[in-house]
This record gives sequence, C-alpha cells and structure tokens, in this order.
Amino acid sequence: MFTTTLSSPRATRPIDLFAAIADLKRELNAVILAHYYQDPDIQDIADYLGDSLGLSQQAAKTQADVIVFAGVHFMAETAKILNPNKQVLLPDLAAGCSLADSCPPNEFAAFKAAHPDHLVISYINCTADIKAMSDILCTSANAVQIVQQVPLDRPIIFAPDRNLGQYVMDKTGRDMVLWQGSCMVHETFSEKKMVQLQIQHPDAETIAHPECEPAVLRHASYIGSTTALLKYVQQSSSQAFIVATEPGIIHQMEKAAPHKRFIPAPPMNQCACNECPHMRLNTLEKLYDCMKHRTPEITLPKTTQVAALKPLQRMLEMSR
Ligand code: 13P
Ligand code: SF4
Repeated sequence: MFTTTLSSPRATRPIDLFAAIADLKRELNAVILAHYYQDPDIQDIADYLGDSLGLSQQAAKTQADVIVFAGVHFMAETAKILNPNKQVLLPDLAAGCSLADSCPPNEFAAFKAAHPDHLVISYINCTADIKAMSDILCTSANAVQIVQQVPLDRPIIFAPDRNLGQYVMDKTGRDMVLWQGSCMVHETFSEKKMVQLQIQHPDAETIAHPECEPAVLRHASYIGSTTALLKYVQQSSSQAFIVATEPGIIHQMEKAAPHKRFIPAPPMNQCACNECPHMRLNTLEKLYDCMKHRTPEITLPKTTQVAALKPLQRMLEMSR
C-alpha cells in the first residue's frame, strides 16, 4: 500500500493514496490519462496509459467530466484543445518539455513567413501557439504515415524536432525544411557507450525512439514510438533489449515480458539524465492534491484553442 501524510498541516494520519485517488475519480467523474514516462506508481493507477497518439485519441473520446493528465504540459494542453468545456488538470504545472521550449512562437512565425508556400507539419510535442500555426500535427507513431499522405509537389516545414524530422526524411525520401529543435533526454544517449554496451550484451537487440540522434538510431534494429517499442519487445524472439528512450517505459516492458531483460541505454555522463526531468515532476501525492483541490488547471485563449484544434483533428483523421 502506498501511503502518505496529507498535505494539510492538521491532517497527520497516513492515507492510502491509491484508494483516495480512486474515491476522487468517482466523485469528480474523472479519467486519469498517463504517459509511459511517468513514475511506475502513476502508471499503475492510470485509467489509460499510452504514447502521445493513444493519449490524444483517448482524450478525443472520453466521456469523463474531468481529465487528469499525468504527463507534461503540451499533452494536457492537447487534451484541453480537444475538450474546451472540460476541466483538464496537470499535477505539476511546471512539467514542461525541452523540445516544446526549443520552438519559441515568435521565431517560428518568422520561419514560417520565410517559407510561405510550405505546408507546416508539427510534432505534437510543441506548445498550443505552435499547433495553432500548423497545418497538420503528428506524433512519433504516425509521422511517416502523415508525411506520406502529402502530395509530392507540396514543400513541407517539419517542426520542432530535427531528429524525428530527419528520421521521417530518411524513411519517406521526402526533403523537408527542419526546425532545429530537440529533446534534451533523447539527445543525452552516448553512441560510444551504446556500442560498448552492445559488445557487453551481444544477445541484446537495440531499440530506439526516433527522437534520438541519427548516430544512435543507426545502431538500432527497431525504431518506433513508445507504444510501438512496447509491442515490439513482446513480438521479437530476442530475450534482451537495450532501450534507447526514457526508461519509464521499462516498467511496462517488464510487466508485458517478465522473462526478458531490459537494459536502459546509457547517457553521456554518470547521471540520471535519461530520465525526463519534466515528466518526473509529477508524483502520486501531486496527482492526489490536484484532484482534491481541482488545481492546477490548464486554460487556453479561445482563439488559440480553435486554431490549434484544426491541425489536431486533421492528424486524428489521417491516422485512422
Ligand atoms: P511518444 O509518446 O510519441 O512515444 O513520444 C515520446 C515523448 O517524448 C513524449 O514526450
Ligand atoms: Fe519533452 Fe523529451 Fe521529456 Fe518527451 S522526453 S517530454 S520530448 S523533454
């Protein structure tokens, strides 16, 4: 049982957080959506756990009155864009994203203006302002599929992740103008240390998320979104895997394939910088507190919400 002492100074009795969150869920008619990079206890309490595409699809169809988003700000914002009349709660409002931050809206507006005939495809890991300036959104699960649906004579801007953009260019043979953004977590993996690890574990297959740099991706035998990686380890005949993405996903891999071994890909330094510092700001206590006090809540200007909804709906239609 996961217990804690309530945040109120008068409450000193430990409570069972799992039971208390389940009670609040019923009281609020809430749904808890969580990404695989959350702490294992948050993953275990979620109603739905998934990658960015799966989470958007769930947010688009939920009947709940309140959406509790255990993920980062751009994900909760996406849920709000899809559900402007529902309350969307994020356990810690400071849970941002280095990739989303690498694309400031005013600089992107100038970039877009310099390429007036280009279609703008943005990775969902961006702010609502960038979404509002985009024609179509994509996730790591459907980026290739979406770019393949664009007529060949239409030039494309791809933002903000240069690594995913390069991966999509390699897969589709399409030339795209790339915004030079990146994820601090996926750029932390060391090619040299990864090769050393492969030598130490010759039986292990290397799998990677497309946000990793090309130098890392070229050592992977399978590349995919977090959900795709999770499915792959179950289907593959390999008994061991070197996993080049945020290690939160390993909790689900170990549950799905308990007899297999999962080795996190090593960061450059002796640090835990392969753990996303933004995702890990959320805790079970903060999840409980945000439901109890119905704050922090995601809010968006109406004009941004309306403009950002269009490319999001296009993505959902094009991924069916
Ligand atoms: P997916 O959820 O598309 O696998 O992407 C991982 C990620 O970096 C989310 O922030
Ligand atoms: Fe953003 Fe990278 Fe963290 Fe994903 S892992 S939320 S892209 S900083």
